[in-house]
Amino acid sequence: MLEQLSDIRERAMAALAAVDSLTALDAWRTEYLGKKSFVTAALKSIGQLPPEDRPVVGKAAHELRLALEAALEEARQRVLALEQERAAQAERVDVTLPGRPATLGRLHPITQILYEIYSIFAEMGFQVYDAPEVETDELNFQLLNLPPDHPARDMWSTFYTTRDGILLRTHTSPGQIRAMRQFCPEPIRVILPGRVYRYEAVTARSESMFHQVEGLAVGPRITMADLKGVLTDFARRLYGEHRQVRFRCSYFPFTEPSMEVDVSCALCDGAGCRVCKHTGWVEIAGAGMVHPQVLRNGGYDPEQFTGFAFGMGPDRIAMLRYGIDDIRYFYSDDLRFLAQF
Ligand code: DAH
Repeated sequence: MLEQLSDIRERAMAALAAVDSLTALDAWRTEYLGKKSFVTAALKSIGQLPPEDRPVVGKAAHELRLALEAALEEARQRVLALEQERAAQAERVDVTLPGRPATLGRLHPITQILYEIYSIFAEMGFQVYDAPEVETDELNFQLLNLPPDHPARDMWSTFYTTRDGILLRTHTSPGQIRAMRQFCPEPIRVILPGRVYRYEAVTARSESMFHQVEGLAVGPRITMADLKGVLTDFARRLYGEHRQVRFRCSYFPFTEPSMEVDVSCALCDGAGCRVCKHTGWVEIAGAGMVHPQVLRNGGYDPEQFTGFAFGMGPDRIAMLRYGIDDIRYFYSDDLRFLAQF
């Protein structure tokens, strides 16, 4: 019996030295200290030994159990440290590796121009007014003095929907009626930005979708001097201090009088170049005094109120600013183009 106990001790200690995980440690504990282990059985069987052998064997078995228990505790510390080390290795992060650069998005060049326009007009007291891109024929045309048979409709042919009288707006001008109807009888100073649609052949100079920024001011004493002042100030802030601005007679059904607004070409300073087609001037907006009937359609009494309005194309502004000669670049989603802004 004593010999067996010492064999067991040797075997147990050797096995314990090889244990390198908590699972293996648990298995070891069951084998050498568990209910069915030799030591436990030896301790239980002491009663059956001849009385003279009992103290010696009992002492030896008990000592072995204490020794195994002590060794188990020691091994547990060692294995815990090992497991921690292993976990640390598995989760290791090399902080010296270069980071993966996050690709940053940016604002579309047209959006950048729009934001610039908003901030210039905001300083002059104009708020941004949102109007829908899907419009009625009534607002897009009729209430702007373009009845169904009006020849000027040819300037704005659009996409019609299958719903009678519903179309994609050809300009931001119908928003004027919406703003007037909402604010009447208060005075108004708004800009109306957004997308507009034209049923036209797509070329370098025209897309079937592009942007406009409409402007509208309505009040008791608004004159053409206000229109000229606001647009001159705007043009100089956007294109540069020294730009000259000129107003040419024109025709729009919803304004009277109507005009087109030109700014001296920023590229050649008015000397004449390819961009201004050698005229020295670049057209930046259509404008005019709001037609009395349009004021009436918005709810205002034209005897009491006057107003001015204008419409400009931020796509063209961006083309001029960045020297881009084809509007289609803006809408082709080509990152090689867009990442330049
Ligand atoms: N709606 C016109 C167009 O799309 C632009 C325009 C001209 C707007 C004169 C106006 C204006 O508000 O007064 O061609």
